Amino acid sequence: MTDRHFPAPPAVVRLAEYTRADQIEILGDSPDPFGVADAGLTWLPKEDHFGIRRNGRLVAHAGLLTLPLSIDGVDTRVVGLGGVAVAPDLRGHGLARAVVSAAVDHARTLGPRHGLLFCRPPLVPLYERLGWRALDRDVRVEQPGGAVVMPLRTMWIPLRDGVTWPPGEVRLLSLPM
Ligand SMILES: CC(C)(COP(=O)(O)OP(=O)(O)OC[C@H]1O[C@@H](n2cnc3c(N)ncnc32)[C@H](O)[C@@H]1OP(=O)(O)O)[C@@H](O)C(=O)NCCC(=O)NCCS
Repeated sequence: MTDRHFPAPPAVVRLAEYTRADQIEILGDSPDPFGVADAGLTWLPKEDHFGIRRNGRLVAHAGLLTLPLSIDGVDTRVVGLGGVAVAPDLRGHGLARAVVSAAVDHARTLGPRHGLLFCRPPLVPLYERLGWRALDRDVRVEQPGGAVVMPLRTMWIPLRDGVTWPPGEVRLLSLPM
């Protein structure tokens, strides 16, 4: 722990639900808090939610959703991470590290061998710092009008020791998370 972190590691709790009001509590009510509106994508809500509360206020969130994926034509499942958010006034103190770590720890119990996320290019170094790796190939994802190439960066994390990312075409067989 460095000085920039809170005196004690922030306690991450499992949230029973994560509503639009919860997201507004963290990020405010701006029209595009994730900066991805330009991509024009339709996203899935997450299923498992992890959060940090401070003085009763929700200040950080990360969500998980297990999804079908094919790699080189072989069907598998991945645990998608999404909705990572920290209150603007509390950024830079390790809260994203805490919620993402808790979410990944839980993802390791779900079965799939890989975690997956999509992010804006400027966030790649941050996620690399948290153990994620850039997947330098196109990933096709479903959208209401049919499959498209994901315009954001794709990153993955091994959920078990020794897991690598296999070569071959990658298709998310659902809307992205
Ligand atoms: C992205 C976001 C979640 C980061 O939250 P945060 O609490 O400031 O992040 P943290 O302080 O936990 O930083 C995580 C790690 O990344 C590192 N980091 C931060 N910015 C970095 C950068 N530009 N390059 C490399 N590492 C970086 C931090 O040093 C930290 O590593 P450390 O714990 O080893 O020091 C926050 O800015 C946010 O909510 N943004 C708006 C919503 C959004 O875009 N979410 C992402 C959706 S994919």
